[in-house]
Amino acid sequence: MTILITGGAGFIGSNFVLDWLATCNEPVINVDKLTYAGNLSNLQSLQGDKRHLFIHGDIGDAASMLQWLRQYQPRAVINFAAESHVDRSIHDPEAFIQTNVNGTFHLLEAALAYWRDLPETKRDDFRFLHISTDEVYGSLDPRDPPFTELSRYAPNSPYAASKASSDHLVRAYYHTYGLPAIITNCSNNYGPYQFPEKLIPLAIHFALMEKPIPIYGDGQQIRDWIYVKDHCTALRCVLQKGLPGEVYNVGSCHEQSNLEVVETICARLDLERPRANQKSYQELITFVKDRPGHDRRYAIDASKIRRALGWAPKETFASGMQKTIAWYLENETWVQNVTTGRYRDWINTHYQAAS
Ligand code: NAD
Ligand code: TYD
Repeated sequence: MTILITGGAGFIGSNFVLDWLATCNEPVINVDKLTYAGNLSNLQSLQGDKRHLFIHGDIGDAASMLQWLRQYQPRAVINFAAESHVDRSIHDPEAFIQTNVNGTFHLLEAALAYWRDLPETKRDDFRFLHISTDEVYGSLDPRDPPFTELSRYAPNSPYAASKASSDHLVRAYYHTYGLPAIITNCSNNYGPYQFPEKLIPLAIHFALMEKPIPIYGDGQQIRDWIYVKDHCTALRCVLQKGLPGEVYNVGSCHEQSNLEVVETICARLDLERPRANQKSYQELITFVKDRPGHDRRYAIDASKIRRALGWAPKETFASGMQKTIAWYLENETWVQNVTTGRYRDWINTHYQAAS
């Protein structure tokens, strides 16, 4: 048996591949376009490992995707590939439509053609697992209950709208053609290998560089943080026990304001890597112009996946953050390698405009 994943050189995808091969021997075919966010060095520990086959490819190339599906005969496709950064989607949405909407459509076309040709027993067991986000549900007020699988779609950013479109396409391929597809909508992930454009790795990176740590607006926006490895165990659980046509929300119930998150990072760094001037890293916190259309609060009700599939997260926010900060302190070379010219161009343009 084999699985095919897309976007496996990105943050969550590479964590998924590493965890998968640490827990079982089933080979992984990993198709990734290697955009600025894809990084093969995340998978360096798998060099020479015959269970992992990397293919440089684009989910929008249906003919090649179909050829690889027929060649490697996977029992499942797990679609992580996406443009994933909200700020970039505000600045330049086109790539989000190309990959998240058109790309998912072409991948679905390839998967459907492949699935239809499978013998009946294999067809029943096949799964198309689409990895999505809680951002498709829009923004919550402080006293609103968390998002359930029945919450209304109300995406507010171009990123969220493109992911919502992809979810609708996946749903339609199940209902119209019977493709055994499942969707997961997860809250904000953090952990090793996250590109330092997202809040947590960016705050760690900027603190260590003694640069102002940018907080958008008043910093009271709330996100529901999950350690990436807990997300990966949820996905393995859904692949094993989830039902076609179903949606599962994934989250850890760790709601934190952005300011609280950054204060936690500063307090931990004060202990682990005290500044030369003996002052707290908190001194670097800087409030900058807010993100346009900034969603105020996300929160996930994960009771369905807990009840129906028996999944539960292992990490608390404190333990997950401790592991994450330790990883970034031990892997400064990784950060140096990904913060190349293209990264610096983005940071310069984006944060100059925000200051
Ligand atoms: P990421 O940006 O770190 O990685 C995306 C990966 O997809 C990269 O390796 C990139 O090279 C690849 N890719 C992009 N376009 C491609 C294409 N056309 N064909 C093939 N590969 C392509 O993203 P991530 O944070 O790892 O997120 C993975 C998935 O999980 C995304 O679908 C995202 O929407 C979803 N998600 C992310 C979070 C989060 O907090 N990061 C939360 C919930 C859901
Ligand atoms: P981010 O990590 O980009 O994830 P998302 O937008 O998908 O939730 O941002 C998390 C929160 O942190 C979000 O409310 C925006 C905020 N934020 C800042 O305040 N400063 C920053 O420099 C970044 C990147 C994000």
